[in-house]
Amino acid sequence: MAFSEKIISWYHQNKRDLPWRNTSDPYQIWLSEIILQQTRVDQGLSYYNKFIENYPTINSLASASEKDILNLWQGLGYYSRARNLHFTAKFIVEKHNGIFPTEYVDVLNLKGVGEYTAAAITSFAYGLSYPVIDGNVYRVLSRIFGIEMPIDSTEGKKIFKKLAIELIDTKNPADYNQAIMEFGALQCTPKKPNCENCPFRLECFALTNELILELPKKEKKIKQRNRYFNYIVIIDNENIYLKERTEKDIWIGLYDFPLIETDKPLISFDKINKKYNSYKLTLQKKSEEYKHILSHQKIYATFWLVSTKNSTKINSNFTKIPLKEINNYPIPKLIDNYLKTIL
Ligand code: ADE
Repeated sequence: MAFSEKIISWYHQNKRDLPWRNTSDPYQIWLSEIILQQTRVDQGLSYYNKFIENYPTINSLASASEKDILNLWQGLGYYSRARNLHFTAKFIVEKHNGIFPTEYVDVLNLKGVGEYTAAAITSFAYGLSYPVIDGNVYRVLSRIFGIEMPIDSTEGKKIFKKLAIELIDTKNPADYNQAIMEFGALQCTPKKPNCENCPFRLECFALTNELILELPKKEKKIKQRNRYFNYIVIIDNENIYLKERTEKDIWIGLYDFPLIETDKPLISFDKINKKYNSYKLTLQKKSEEYKHILSHQKIYATFWLVSTKNSTKINSNFTKIPLKEINNYPIPKLIDNYLKTIL
């Protein structure tokens, strides 16, 4: 049996029933793929359902405000995905009469859509024969076929792409693409793949050569940067002060608190007190340190809960809102986690 037949047959016996697999609407498929970039299916599912409920068509998504979209996206991380989603919805409505492009190159040209997403959308929605290549696919192919070339090298990428093009079932690219991703997600998992019950166990290069945990290979280690955030949480009667993030940095468009970033953890309140001298702050409670890991940085955050005796002086860069309205504002998960401890 050919590789594609075998993996599609495995898929029919093992696939999860997921809503975006029961549609050929390119809008719904695109939405699901953007949500599922860097998100696990079990987490992405409720977000997908919320988005479809609130924005059933590309027109409704295009007419929404960015703040509402970010608010619905809250907790998923990588917020530029949500901003690109909104941008692209508006672009399709304004430049393409609201009709999702049907050619691979036009889909690939959409903001927020790379080769993987373009292949997923055009194969699932239109049955075009473009193979998806994501982390799951790299893992499955490197293990079964014994490809030791690093997946993050130019040469490695070429080799995997060539093989993926050879392997795809051109008569049924949609099922083939779903199948290989599902196989990577459920069967050929990163740490504990289910090799005993694998349809490829007799031919799998990695299993035969005890290289399961060595493959796929990567060239570079991601560099991580440490950052120390000191958040000033000013509560004044039933109000709290938020700060919209507008600088070119993480979380653009989201709200957090007045912030002092330092290159080491801050031990005492002095530095904060000096900077915000005119607000006449009194420290109420310093939080424990929160560790928040992003793809390229580790954030160590401390929240300094304070009261003020001079709220009229507080800088107009901050947004004063009633505490009970906090749910109307998109906030990073880190901030949400902290707020849960004080509200
Ligand atoms: N991850 C990315 N795309 C997916 C899809 N269509 N089904 C399941 N998991 C996915």
